Amino acid sequence: MTAPTSPAAPIDPTSTDAWAELEAHNLELEGSLREWFETDRQRAERFTHDAAELHVDLSKNLLTPTTMELLLQLAREVGVEEHRDAMFAGAHINTTEDRAVLHAALRRPAGSSPSLEVDGQNIDEDVRGTLHRVYDFADKVRSGEWTGVTGKRIKTVVNIGIGGSDLGPVMVYEALKPFAQDGLEARFISNIDPTDAYASTQDLDPETTLVIVASKTFTTQETLTNARLVRQWLLSGLRESAGLTAEQEQEAVAKHFVAVSTALDKVEAFGIDPENAFGFWDWVGGRYSVDSAIGTVLATVLGPDAFEELLAGFHAMDEHFATAPAEQNVPLLMGLVNVWNVNFLEAETHAVLPYSQYLHRFPAYLQQLTMESNGKSVRWDGSLATTETGEVFWGEPGTNGQHAFYQLIHQGTRLIPADFIAFATPNHALVDGEQDVHELFLANFFAQTKALAFGKTAEEVRAEGTEGALVAAREFSGDRPTTSIMAPKLTPSVLGQLIALYEHITFVQGVVWGINSFDQWGVELGKQLAKGLAPAVAGDEQAISAEDASTAGLIRYYREQRQQG
Ligand code: F6P
Repeated sequence: MTAPTSPAAPIDPTSTDAWAELEAHNLELEGSLREWFETDRQRAERFTHDAAELHVDLSKNLLTPTTMELLLQLAREVGVEEHRDAMFAGAHINTTEDRAVLHAALRRPAGSSPSLEVDGQNIDEDVRGTLHRVYDFADKVRSGEWTGVTGKRIKTVVNIGIGGSDLGPVMVYEALKPFAQDGLEARFISNIDPTDAYASTQDLDPETTLVIVASKTFTTQETLTNARLVRQWLLSGLRESAGLTAEQEQEAVAKHFVAVSTALDKVEAFGIDPENAFGFWDWVGGRYSVDSAIGTVLATVLGPDAFEELLAGFHAMDEHFATAPAEQNVPLLMGLVNVWNVNFLEAETHAVLPYSQYLHRFPAYLQQLTMESNGKSVRWDGSLATTETGEVFWGEPGTNGQHAFYQLIHQGTRLIPADFIAFATPNHALVDGEQDVHELFLANFFAQTKALAFGKTAEEVRAEGTEGALVAAREFSGDRPTTSIMAPKLTPSVLGQLIALYEHITFVQGVVWGINSFDQWGVELGKQLAKGLAPAVAGDEQAISAEDASTAGLIRYYREQRQQG
């Protein structure tokens, strides 16, 4: 298949008929969620859709069937479906880097036909070939065939990476911990704060530790610095515990270090044997890479079977996004609801609230996925965005969030759309006396979206015996939009579906706004400046004086304190 090379110029969403109609509709929109549910008995059913195993209820959002029709018209006018098809076919929709965007190809099942060929590369063959090597390696570690240099079985796999080379793996590991092999754990080092490398290794035995250096570019300062620190720790530990000689160092690195990268030449230059390196390709964005070889730590600790199940879940959602009719296409509808909330209801943030302790890193993972993708003011043709774009994503697991920030969501002055995520079957069914604790937990999940949607009127507050000024304080306005996402259980497949759902939601929003969701130039300036500041931080007075007054003052403060400390 020959892929188109670049997308047409973005269509300004604000110039479409649908946009003008949405603006007028927003001004005319009357009623409340209470009224809409009362007058439209089909509302819950109308706005609830299934995508693979996910059951998604959009009915508690601030919209009517007309709103949804207009949003779907907007999607048609800006060409969301055409862009989706172009992405899946391998068009270079990452315009600033002139790259295809093919994370969905990472999870095509083995033997997919016809096979996907893009830019002269047989994508399926390469993806499956790499997975095969990753699984082979994982099996060796899991069975004990792969040992450390002293012959001891590997007990800990330390993944060193940052951003997409960390957040996806750590989030999935935390989410699927019950699938980890007994006696094998994962650790993650990301921050260049030396505390991270220290704290993550200080109780480990170098003889039973395997390190995966994960970096798409293999140039990232944090990752390479941490890799050198851990190599130092490992070799000096082995010298002490096993009398490792200088001649044996190379062998020790080969047995204890593997790498994942698109830049295999740089891996070799770092001293890691290319035999022990797993590749991926420039058409996989860092924040879309957890299902590539970047997931080697997952395939190793959770196992190839669980990893395959995860990929199958991703693929099920890809299929839904690629083929479901627009009116039932969940990623499309959720992306459009987000556009409605951001551009018409003026929401600035979006909470993601998993009612699952195992998903505690999911909001952090989504922050990179959504904000690095859509935090842009320039469109894919270089022109300025014509509307507000990416909202701030944040969140914490329920019920902890209920006792922290939900107050503001319930009664604050800002509109905060929120996604609530829950699973019918718990990973651990515990009882408190007669009480099934998961049921208590889910009662909270159901109660919160109900309270946010329908609130509590002054009359209802008074009817409970409250009077005077306290009435207003105890009143809840309701009409605070939420989406409920439920699934049977948090399995590898369901997790894959959930991640792919948010990938595609992000894509839909990006297309509506005319944004290239696949570059990240905004993180470059800080990186450049950090390098340039090194001499000043090291105390070069001339370099310090050349800085702006604030930066120079802060560096001087640091120097003084450091000398005293
Ligand atoms: O911070 C920017 C970024 O390039 C992310 O997009 C990426 O996921 C992360 O750094 C890590 O990059 P790499 O995998 O190349 O080390």
